[in-house]
Amino acid sequence: MRIGTTLTNYTINKQKGFVGASGTFTGLLNDIAVACKRIADLVNKGDLVGVLGAVDSENVQGEQQKKLDVISNDLMIEALRHNGHIAGLASEEMDEIYQLPEGARRGNYLVLCDPLDGSSNIDVNVSVGTIFSVLKAPDGSDNPTQEDFLKAGTEQIAAGYCLYGPSTILVLTTGDGVSMFTLNRDFGEFLLTKEHVRIPQETSEFAINMSYRRHWDGPVERYISECLAGKEGERGKDFNMRWVASMVAEVHRILTRGGIFLYPCDAKIRAAGREGKLRLMYEANPMAMIVEQAGGAATTGTQRILEVNPEEIHQRVPVILGSKAEVDRIADYHL
Ligand code: AHG
Ligand code: MN
Ligand code: MN
Repeated sequence: MRIGTTLTNYTINKQKGFVGASGTFTGLLNDIAVACKRIADLVNKGDLVGVLGAVDSENVQGEQQKKLDVISNDLMIEALRHNGHIAGLASEEMDEIYQLPEGARRGNYLVLCDPLDGSSNIDVNVSVGTIFSVLKAPDGSDNPTQEDFLKAGTEQIAAGYCLYGPSTILVLTTGDGVSMFTLNRDFGEFLLTKEHVRIPQETSEFAINMSYRRHWDGPVERYISECLAGKEGERGKDFNMRWVASMVAEVHRILTRGGIFLYPCDAKIRAAGREGKLRLMYEANPMAMIVEQAGGAATTGTQRILEVNPEEIHQRVPVILGSKAEVDRIADYHL
C-alpha cells in the first residue's frame, strides 16, 4: 500500500479483501489507535500533567502500579467499551475479564492488552509501549468468560504494539506480514511508514538482563557465555548487548535491525513458583505473532510460544524471540 496511507484507510483496504467483512475490525483497530494516541499524549506531557510516579496499589501480578499503568488501562477501556466492536477485554492491570456495561453494544472480538509495557521506565523518560492481541469471540458470547479468552497464540487474528519513543510508532500484523505506522502529531493520524518488515536471519546482538546470570539454566548460560566469548570463542564473532527493560522497545529494535531477546525462566523465578516473568496472553503471544510474521521465531526454549495452551489469563512463560537462526540455536541447546 502507498507509504503515507492512514491506518484507517489501510485497514479499510485490507478488509475489502475479506468477503462479508462488516467494517467492525477497522472500527476495532481505530478504537485501539485512539487509546494509543491518548496514551502517547500523556506519556509525552509527563510531569506537565502530573502522570508520572506510582499509585498506592499493586496489580494482580503483585507489581507496584504506576499512575500511567492505571490511566492507560482506563483509556483502553474507554476507547473500546462503547463502540460495539468487542465482546470483552482482558488486561495486565485487571484481575478479572472486563465485562461491558449492561446495554452496551457487543462485537465479535476479544482484546487482551498490556496497557503500558516497560512502566518502570516511565519516570526516567525511557521508551514504553502498549501491547495488544485480538481474538475472535465465540458466537453468542455476550459476556465472555475466562475460558473464551484461553486460546493458543495461533488463534490470534491480529496483534500489535504502540511504541512511545522519540516517535510514536504503531506496529500491526493481521497475519499477512508486519506494517509500521508513525504518528503525525500535527494532525493526529498514524501514517504507514514501513510495510513487509523482515527481521534479518543472522544477528550479533542479544538482549537479556545479565543481573540474573547466577540464576540461569544451563542452555541460557551456554548461549550467552558463547556470545560473550566473542571472536576468540565458539561463535567466532563479537556480540553486542542491549537491555532497555521495555519489551516493546526491544522487539522494535529487533524488527528494525535484528537481534535476540531473552527473558528465560531461571532458578529464582522457579523458586517463586512461576514459569517466567512475561505474560503469555498479552505480552508473549502478540510479540511472537509479530516476530514470526516478520520472519523471526519465538520459543519458550522447548516449545513454540504460539502453540502454548493457556490455562489462565495472567499465565507467565519464558520468552526467547528474534532472529531465527539464533532462536533455533538456543532451542537446540534445550534438547
Ligand atoms: P510491565 O511494565 O508491563 O510489567 O513489563 C515489563 C517487562 C518487560 O517489558 C521487560 O522486558 C521486563 O519486564 C523487564 O524486567 P526486568 O526489570 O526484570 O529486567
Ligand atoms: Mn509488560
Ligand atoms: Mn504493563
